[in-house]
Order: sequence, then C-alpha cells, then structure tokens
Amino acid sequence: MSPLAAIEAIEAIRAHFTGRLAANRETPAIAAELRNILALLDTVDFSHADEKHLRPSGHPVIRQLQQTPPRSEETATAAIFRAFQPQLDALPWRFSYTPRIDAPDIGERMAWAELVGPIAPFHSNKVCLGLTAIGPRLLYPRHYHPAVETYLVVSGTAAWTAANLTRRAPPGALILHPANIVHAMETSDEPLLAAYAWTGDVETLSVYEDEDEDGQ
Ligand SMILES: [Fe+2]
Repeated sequence: MSPLAAIEAIEAIRAHFTGRLAANRETPAIAAELRNILALLDTVDFSHADEKHLRPSGHPVIRQLQQTPPRSEETATAAIFRAFQPQLDALPWRFSYTPRIDAPDIGERMAWAELVGPIAPFHSNKVCLGLTAIGPRLLYPRHYHPAVETYLVVSGTAAWTAANLTRRAPPGALILHPANIVHAMETSDEPLLAAYAWTGDVETLSVYEDEDEDGQ
C-alpha cells in the first residue's frame, strides 16, 4: 500500500468523524471520544511512513472479502469504503490472538490492518486507527482490552454484543467499547468491514474472555 493511499484512507475516517461531531447527534460519550481521537490524530506525524508496515501481508482474509464482496451501496460511510476497497489486497492485515480449538480457522477468516498505532506505518503510542475485516458467518468470540475502542461500521450489518446486550449495527453505526468491557461480533452472510480507533492503553493486546492466564 502506498503512503498516499494510507493517508487518503485515514483522512476519509477523520473527515467522517469530524462530520459526525458537526452534526451533533451523537451521545455525549461518543462525541467526547471522537473529539479525543481527532485531537490525538492531530499529534501524529503523517510526513513519514514506516513502509515495512505498509507491505501487503497476503492474509487469507482477503479471499473472504473477495468471495463475498462487501456491498458498496451509497451509505454514510461510502467515502471510507471507496478509500479502502481498492486497497483490500494491499493492506497489512494481521491477526494476533492465540489459537482456539473451537474456531481453528478464525485467524484465516478475520484480521485487522492498522494504519496508525504502535506497530503501524504512522507511529503513535496514544491512538490507533485501522480497519477490521470479518468474513461471512463468523463469530469473533468475547474479548476485552484496556484501550477505549470506537468502531465505525463501513459495510456489512453484523450482530454486535457488549455488556451482554446484542444489536445489529448497520453501516454508519458508531459503537463505543469502554476500557475492558467484554464484547463480541458475529457476521451473517455478508462480511463486515469496520474502521476502529483505540485510545488509552493502546499497547496491551486484546485477549479472549475465556483465555486462561497461560494464554491458552
Ligand atoms: Fe475490541
């Protein structure tokens, strides 16, 4: 992925967040976190990209997205979709959970590509920004992390669970996960693409809720 394409994708997300704040229809908690994310992104040096984190990873999730292409209808997030869609096979997808017996192929069917963060082309240890992809008919099991997480659904309507409440979230939905809340997602026949931002402790990895202390 070229640094310019990465910056364009990041800018599409920033512009969307800025527009959502200007429209003034978000909950106070989401509005406060969007302001926090935008202020932290303002501190990132976009003049230099670490190109080793822009190399395409060739992750098998790409095949999941191509076999069942995400819908590209005009939605509130169409500009973000258009920025990422031509780059899906060029993104630095990765997956870092420990293997699980009940979902042996999960690491091939979902992944995320980070563009801003501690391990990303544009470095920050205060904010992460990236894209999560989940293939069709997959449960991303219950997990948690100390970072505050904001998701923006770009394409695909999945079931989102947090604090034991489940809702179907369409493109354009903003979902806020406070630090350490347990959450999960489950796709149906269409894959999910969602932009995400992390703030707070962005260095501690997410773990499954049922992972024991040995990380098994
Ligand atoms: Fe999360």
